[in-house]
Amino acid sequence: MRTVLRMRDLEGKIVAITGANIGIGRAVAEALAARGASLRLLCRSLDKVAPLVESLREQATDVIAIPCDLGRLDSVREAAAELLARDEPLHVLVNNAGIGGQKGKTPDGFELHFGVNHLGHFLLTNLLLDRLKASAPARIVHVASGSHYKAPGIDWDAVQQPTKTVSGFPEYSVSKLANVLFNAELGRRLEGTGVTSYAVNPGRVATNIWQRMPWPLRPLFKLTMWSSEQGARSTTRAATDLVGTGCYFDKHAVIQPASTPAQDTQLAFELWDRSERWVSSAS
Ligand SMILES: NC(=O)c1ccc[n+]([C@@H]2O[C@H](COP(=O)([O-])OP(=O)(O)OC[C@H]3O[C@@H](n4cnc5c(N)ncnc54)[C@H](OP(=O)(O)O)[C@@H]3O)[C@@H](O)[C@H]2O)c1
Repeated sequence: MRTVLRMRDLEGKIVAITGANIGIGRAVAEALAARGASLRLLCRSLDKVAPLVESLREQATDVIAIPCDLGRLDSVREAAAELLARDEPLHVLVNNAGIGGQKGKTPDGFELHFGVNHLGHFLLTNLLLDRLKASAPARIVHVASGSHYKAPGIDWDAVQQPTKTVSGFPEYSVSKLANVLFNAELGRRLEGTGVTSYAVNPGRVATNIWQRMPWPLRPLFKLTMWSSEQGARSTTRAATDLVGTGCYFDKHAVIQPASTPAQDTQLAFELWDRSERWVSSAS
């Protein structure tokens, strides 16, 4: 069995991050670049990520941007193919991109939060898994959320329908529960491969994800929120030196996920099984 190495010095390590153009993802990219990592930024808009790419290159970071819309499974496949065609190792995958408080359905027929936050990342991770294993020791980090505890479970019909609630936040919680369950199942499946998997709650961070929260809640909430740099710390730690696998890292400590569904191994297995069938029927 290969050992799990800590990666404090990231010189020569290649890290892929989704949704890195802004918010927590951008702060994670900057923190890892400062430690010498090469970055592959998977973003849905190359225009939006261009200023970050330019600024990182000025600091001599090896960085490229790859288009990837996680709400479109064909785009996820193209992004993975572009990354794999580079014929280089992949040491860390950070599944960070996410939406909250939105309404709709993806072109592949899934509730918007579930499709983007869970299913797009499920497919991306599985397409990159052999490369991660071949690059071991390697890590996968899922940026989940403490809001997963608000989800009572996963309604398999509802995740194949447009967003039903007015706020979209109950659907967001379900997608974040899916992140926690995917991490737990992935951790189990990766035992002994040298690839470890972590789910992270970054804390409450003042980013664009809250922009649909109604006034005056938003400015009030923002007063108590962390900066993106503070919010990036737990993800950066999981991407570099957290020990264990399949665990949930809540801001400062590894804890048990906060709800019964999040600890349900049968639900985690069923989510994997259904997700596998959904992504293959959409190919
Ligand atoms: N902020 C918080 O308090 C908080 C708390 C718990 C968990 N989180 C989690 O932290 C992660 C990062 O969120 P954030 O707070 O940094 O929000 P953010 O500033 O809104 O950043 C979200 C990122 O995801 C990208 N994204 C959205 N939809 C996408 C799609 N279809 N395909 C590819 N990329 C897409 C966005 O790209 P565009 O710029 O192109 O939209 C952006 O880069 C999310 O997973 C979120 O659930 C945040």
